[in-house]
Amino acid sequence: MQKQLLNLRFIFKTKVMLRTHHCGELRKEHVGNEVTLSGWVQKTRDKGGLLWVDVRDRFGITQLTFEEGSTNEKVLQTARELGREYVIQASGTVVERYAKNDKLLTGDIEIRVNQLNILNASKVPPFKIEDETDGGEDLRLKYRYLDLRRNTVRKKLELRSRMAIAIRNFLSEKAFVEVETPVLIKSTPEGARDFVVPSRINKGEFYALPQSPQTFKQLLMVSGLDRYFQIVKCFRDEDLRADRQPEFTQIDCEMSFVERDDVLDTFEAMTQHLFASIKQVDLGTFPRMTYAEAMEKYGSDKPDVRFGMEFISLNEVAQGKGFNVFDSAELVVGICAKGCAEYTRKQLDELTHYVKTPQVGAKGLVYVKCNPDGTFKSSVDKFYSQEDLKAWAEACGAVPNDLILVLSGSKESTRKQMNQLRLNMGNLLELRDPNQFCPLWVVDFPLFEWDEETQRFHAMHHPFTAPLASDLNLLDTDPGKVRANAYDLVINGVEIGGGSIRIHDKNTQSVMFKHLGFSPEEARSQFGFLMDAFEYGAPPHGGIAFGFDRLCALFGGSETIRDYIAFPKNTSGRDVMIDSPSPVSEEQLNDLGLKLK
Ligand code: AMO
Repeated sequence: MQKQLLNLRFIFKTKVMLRTHHCGELRKEHVGNEVTLSGWVQKTRDKGGLLWVDVRDRFGITQLTFEEGSTNEKVLQTARELGREYVIQASGTVVERYAKNDKLLTGDIEIRVNQLNILNASKVPPFKIEDETDGGEDLRLKYRYLDLRRNTVRKKLELRSRMAIAIRNFLSEKAFVEVETPVLIKSTPEGARDFVVPSRINKGEFYALPQSPQTFKQLLMVSGLDRYFQIVKCFRDEDLRADRQPEFTQIDCEMSFVERDDVLDTFEAMTQHLFASIKQVDLGTFPRMTYAEAMEKYGSDKPDVRFGMEFISLNEVAQGKGFNVFDSAELVVGICAKGCAEYTRKQLDELTHYVKTPQVGAKGLVYVKCNPDGTFKSSVDKFYSQEDLKAWAEACGAVPNDLILVLSGSKESTRKQMNQLRLNMGNLLELRDPNQFCPLWVVDFPLFEWDEETQRFHAMHHPFTAPLASDLNLLDTDPGKVRANAYDLVINGVEIGGGSIRIHDKNTQSVMFKHLGFSPEEARSQFGFLMDAFEYGAPPHGGIAFGFDRLCALFGGSETIRDYIAFPKNTSGRDVMIDSPSPVSEEQLNDLGLKLK
C-alpha cells in the first residue's frame, strides 16, 4: 500500500472540515461507519432505479450509491444533476459491495449516500481525466491544471517532491547549508544565451536571469559557508529538446577544502542514497572514465554504458588494401552487433539510410556479416579477401552470426556518427532497458574548446574551472591540450550533473580569462567582484550541479523532462496555458525606457 494514502485525521489531528476520510481510504473494516467524502465526480451511471457515482480525489476513488425508494428524493434529484468533474461532498453509510472491484483500493465497499452537496459545478472537461486520456499534448498543456488531476501525471510531481525532500535531508545531514541566491543578476557565462530583464529604475540597463548560481556559490565559499546547496531555478535561452527547458532546476552544490575525489565521493553517496531509498535500486560503486577514453570507445562524453558495442579502430587492418574511402580516412571504426548477421538486405539498407540522414551525416556504411559457417559477406568484398575480413572480425571480437558495422572519415565526425549508430543499434536490439541504471563519472575534460566560428577558445565547462595541476605547464604553450579538473555524472547516456574543482587564486583566474579572449578590462567589468573576493582568502573549493528535472525523468523512466515539471513550456518555449511570452503595453515599455513616446 502506498505511503501517501494517509489517514486524514492523522494529518489534521482534529475533526476534518469537509470530509472525514479521503477517497482512497475506506475498507471492509469501515462497514457501518457514517462518513463524509469530498472530491470530483469521475463518472456517473444511472440505471433508472439505481445510480452510481464515482468520487475521486488525490488518494483514490470511492463509489457512491443512490437508490430510488430508499434515498431521499431531493438527494437523488441532486445526484442526477451531477456532471463529470463536479465538486461534491457526500455523506452516508459505508456498506459492503455485492460486486467487488479488485482494481480499486476501495473496491470492497460503497457509500449509501443520505446527504449530497454540490460544492461547485464544472464545465465538461476538454479531455478525459483518466490514466488513458483522449487529449493531445497541446490541449493538455493548455489545461495543465486538469492534466495534473490525472493520476499518471500527478504521480510524477509526487515523485519529484519525494526526491527533493530526500536530497534536502541527505545534504543537510552532511552539514550542507541551503542558501538562496538572487535571481536578478548579471550574466554568468555558462555557454548559453541569457534571459534579460530590463530595469525600470536604471533605464537602459538590464539584469540577467542566472544560467546557474555559479559565481554566488563560489562567493559563499569565500564567506566560509563551507558546504552549500540549493534546489534552484536556472534559466538558459537555448534551443529546446526533450531534456532541455528554458527554465529548469538544478541541485546546485559547492564544498570548501576538497579535492576532486571528495566531491565525487559525496555526490556518488547522494545518488546511491536516492536510488536506494526511492527506487530500491543498489547502484554499486560508479566506474570512472576519462573524457579521452569515452570519446575513443563511445564517441561521446556521455556514453550509455548499459550495453557494450564499444568502438574498435580498424585502421590497421582495413587500410592499404586499395579501398580509397578507407585509405584516405583519418579513422576507420567498427562496432560489433551480436547475433545480427541474419539482417536482411532491407534492414541493412535502412541502417545505411539512417547513417546518411542529415542528423547523422555519414557518407555511407560498410558491413561485414560473420556467417554461421565461418565465412564472411561484406559490402566491400571487391576490396577485401576472406582473410582480410577475418582480421577485422578478430579485431572486433566478432564470432559467427555477428554483424560488423564500419564508418570512416575524420576522427571527430566519424566518432560522432558512430555514437549515433551505436545508440540506434542499442535501441533496435532493446539493449537500453529503462529499468537498468548504469552510472559513470566522466573525468578530465579538456579545459578549452576551440570555436571555429569565433576563432577562439571557449571554456568547455566554465571559466572558473581549474586546470589539472599536471597540465599547468601547457597552459601557455598548448592550451588546447590542457585538461580540466572537471567531471560529469552520466547515467544511461544522460548527463545528469557536472562540476569541477575551481580556480581559487586571482592570478590563475586572470590567465584563464586571457586565454578565453577577455581583455583585463572586460574581465574586470564582468567578474571584478569575483577577482576582488579572491584577494580576501578564498579557500580551495569545488562543486557540482545536478539537473534535477533530468534526474526525476530518469527515476520515472522517461526521456522527457517536461512531464516532471508542474507547468512546463512547450517545444517552442511557450507556456500555452498562461500564453507567455506575450507583448506588453506601450505604457510598460515606456516605463522601462524601451520605447520613446
Ligand atoms: P552545467 O551547465 O553542466 O553546470 O549544468 C548542470 C546540469 O544541469 C542540467 N541542465 C539542464 N537541464 C534541463 N534543461 C536545461 N536547459 C539544462 N541545462 C543544463 C544538466 C547539467 O548536467 N554551474 C555549473 C555546475 C558546477 O560547475 O558546479 C553548471 O551549471 O543535467
